[in-house]
Amino acid sequence: MENPFKYAGIVTGPYFADREQEISELLSEMRNLGRVFLVSPRRYGKTCLIFNLRDKLKKEGYHPIYLDLNAYPDLASFSVALTERVSRALESSTDKLAKLISTLKYLRPKVEVAPDGSLTAGVEMSVPRQQALPALLEGLHYSERLAIKKGRKLIVAVDEFSDLEKYDGQTIEKAIRSEIQTHTHIGYVFSGSAQGVMLAMTQDPQRAFYRMGRIMELGAIDRDAYQNFIITWFKKGGYQLKNVDFEFLFDAAEDVPYSIQRMCNVLWEKARSSRTITQEMVEALPLIVARQDSAHFELIWQTASQTQKILLMALAKERNAKPFSRQFQLTYGIGPSSSIKASLDSLVKKGILYQTPAGRYRFSDTFMRYWILGLAQDD
Ligand SMILES: Nc1ncnc2c1ncn2[C@@H]1O[C@H](COP(=O)(O)OP(=O)(O)O)[C@@H](O)[C@H]1O
Ligand SMILES: [Mg+2]
Repeated sequence: MENPFKYAGIVTGPYFADREQEISELLSEMRNLGRVFLVSPRRYGKTCLIFNLRDKLKKEGYHPIYLDLNAYPDLASFSVALTERVSRALESSTDKLAKLISTLKYLRPKVEVAPDGSLTAGVEMSVPRQQALPALLEGLHYSERLAIKKGRKLIVAVDEFSDLEKYDGQTIEKAIRSEIQTHTHIGYVFSGSAQGVMLAMTQDPQRAFYRMGRIMELGAIDRDAYQNFIITWFKKGGYQLKNVDFEFLFDAAEDVPYSIQRMCNVLWEKARSSRTITQEMVEALPLIVARQDSAHFELIWQTASQTQKILLMALAKERNAKPFSRQFQLTYGIGPSSSIKASLDSLVKKGILYQTPAGRYRFSDTFMRYWILGLAQDD
């Protein structure tokens, strides 16, 4: 039997744990063609959630499309991709597609020959790339018109939406808002891992997306539900659990679904031949995974400054460390606060740490903490 605990890419169907409440709330928002901002740290399962939602929406006759802003270095490529995805979702005939797209001003059809010899219609910019914003607005407007014309309901999911900043944000935000707030045939999900950016975008009255949709902060999966999922799979695989308490695993993972999956995946392999799982095996998991990723952590470690290393060590030891307190600075011999702030900012920017809404600094990858604690043990 294949390992049911997947930890990379899109996890759907029977391999996707829980999130029933979230899916049902998202479904009802989308049935009303609402706008939702989905916010959580990385690896909480936003992308997976969107794909699971998508399967459900398709069954209900909606036409979902998905775009990840990470994939589009400039606004022009995003505008092109959006228009192309919407067109293909709503029109299957290449001829008709090309005709539809040829009515646009900033975008035009690009007919390509697929490897099997068939023709497909894509989209390209027909004006200089500097005019990407009007092209995006045109693409959005066209999407709504096409949905109306076809009598279809579109769901547009834009992942890593906090990346919008990289396109010279705020002008774009205003323009997008004024276009999409008139839409009646498209529901939107905007998802992002940069919590600070997402919350500033949506909760600051000065910003364009203020009150434009519901903010859904994706939290951890309920431990009981997750434990059920885990135990059910182990039972299905014929594994015997000997007084195993999974609380340890949830604590070690800080409830991050990716980290839970990672450890369960290893556990499945470790016990594959004995088919017996003990508490000792569970407790060995964080360090096993941390060691599997040591090359990656070493690289990060090498590029960290001395202050950053001290901070990382301190955060590994004390999960609720207060780096700006006098006590902390005395204990670890670093300071002043301004230099600590600069180091922390840089670690956040590199994606090594993230800041919780309560202002605490946490490791983006929970296993890095174990790797650092392991370092201290070795010497
Ligand atoms: N509900 C879930 N059930 C099983 N695995 C999950 C779940 N949510 C997240 N994961 C795991 O975490 C990984 C990262 O999830 P992802 O959707 O990419 O997170 P995000 O988009 O928030 O960064 C997935 O590849 C998957 O292995
Ligand atoms: Mg994602």
